[in-house]
Amino acid sequence: MGFPHKSHERETVVLSQHFGNAEARSLDGWKKLGGYKALEKALGMQPAEIVEVVKASGLRGRGGAGYPTGLKWSFMKPGDGKPHYLCCNADESEPGTFKDREIMRWTPHALVEACAIGAYAIGAETAYIYIRGEFTEPLAEMSRAVKEAYAAGIVGKNAMGTGKCVDVHVHKGAGAYICGEETALMNSLEGRRGNPRIKPPFPAVSGLFGMPTTINNVETLVAVNHILLRGADWYKGMSLSNPKSTGTKLFSVCGNIARPGNYEVQMGFPFKDFLYDVCGGPLEGRQFKAVIPGGVSVPIQNMEEAEATLMDYEGFVERGSMLGSGGVIVIDDAQNMVKVIARIARFFAHESCAQCTQCREGTAWATRILERIADGHGATEDLDTLLDISEDMTGKTICVLSDSCATPIVSGIKKFREEFEVLIKQRRFHAVAAAVA
Ligand SMILES: Cc1cc2nc3c(=O)[nH]c(=O)nc-3n(C[C@H](O)[C@H](O)[C@H](O)COP(=O)(O)O)c2cc1C
Repeated sequence: MGFPHKSHERETVVLSQHFGNAEARSLDGWKKLGGYKALEKALGMQPAEIVEVVKASGLRGRGGAGYPTGLKWSFMKPGDGKPHYLCCNADESEPGTFKDREIMRWTPHALVEACAIGAYAIGAETAYIYIRGEFTEPLAEMSRAVKEAYAAGIVGKNAMGTGKCVDVHVHKGAGAYICGEETALMNSLEGRRGNPRIKPPFPAVSGLFGMPTTINNVETLVAVNHILLRGADWYKGMSLSNPKSTGTKLFSVCGNIARPGNYEVQMGFPFKDFLYDVCGGPLEGRQFKAVIPGGVSVPIQNMEEAEATLMDYEGFVERGSMLGSGGVIVIDDAQNMVKVIARIARFFAHESCAQCTQCREGTAWATRILERIADGHGATEDLDTLLDISEDMTGKTICVLSDSCATPIVSGIKKFREEFEVLIKQRRFHAVAAAVA
């Protein structure tokens, strides 16, 4: 594979520039490519200075919610006499999302470096990288990279000879979608069942082991390496439309599209160009029907909305959806939307931790009704029932898993109602035909 990695000329490769380059995986190779220069710089700065640079860059969380990273880091109060922790969320279980695993597979030292910087910036001496249990290759790569970094004195009690302590540990996750929710992840790390905790208290007050904790996604942390070396203005300058969405973003693309894969573009890139030019458009003889642009938890877009979208936090919201985790799922005219949505609901029903009634019951009922409609046994009143259940599942639970299940159901019924109605009418037709026969 060529190097630097770029699948399309319109990509802007920053985080993904070494994907496909085996040299980047080893410590020696990583150093040759400029690795650990950002950590060296960071350890020479005051933690508060790093937080200010990250704030000024406009970096926002890439795990789904888009919370400003520098602001989150500033909630960690220095000198409180308590141990602080950094958790790196490498659970990446949102269907349609597969970019964090590529960062870990190809540039594991980038993440070790980023975790060391993040920990130092928030006054933590320990960072935990919580990696989804099924990710065998990323787990092996990350464990090897951490070992190499310790052996070279880059992390540990005397990081890079500065006398500063930064420990980095890899933790194999428990293999459940819910363990990606930040407080469930902390429970899981502590050896408990991965159930989300009631907030407040928020992790910055009481997180891992009850201590002040910051949690960030893999992609968020890795961006900080580049921001420290190249400056906040450089990062901000990459925004193509809205100044509140800065830098580049990795989008994972899958489904009914000619060239699926991971692509890195500047925030604000036109989604139409992305789908048709960068990712090669629909499969031969097909047309795009819908897109779920940010993992299955975000509203479904019809093509009119998708083609008018600028790819950033605000752009997706303006056109009826959300940027989410950047997992773009493309659906063409060969698919039935009811079946797609029923499949998504089944995923959430399976992954509900079952703590909250609205989620435990709602995801299961919604799945049963959707599958009934998809199988040709639906009734007209089912759509109202689905919308009622979805309302009860929104904003009423400890975490947003049940909201995430309701989102594609509500947007699907709103934007593709006729597909539900056709299936329901067919059922009535069969029932009448059977009665007449
Ligand atoms: C059910 C559920 C699953 C989640 N899964 C992930 C995940 O796999 N990876 C991730 O980074 N964030 C995930 N999140 C979001 C995290 O709770 C949290 O917002 C994120 O790790 C914060 O990092 P960031 O500020 O860098 O985005 C999930 C949230 C929920 C409610």
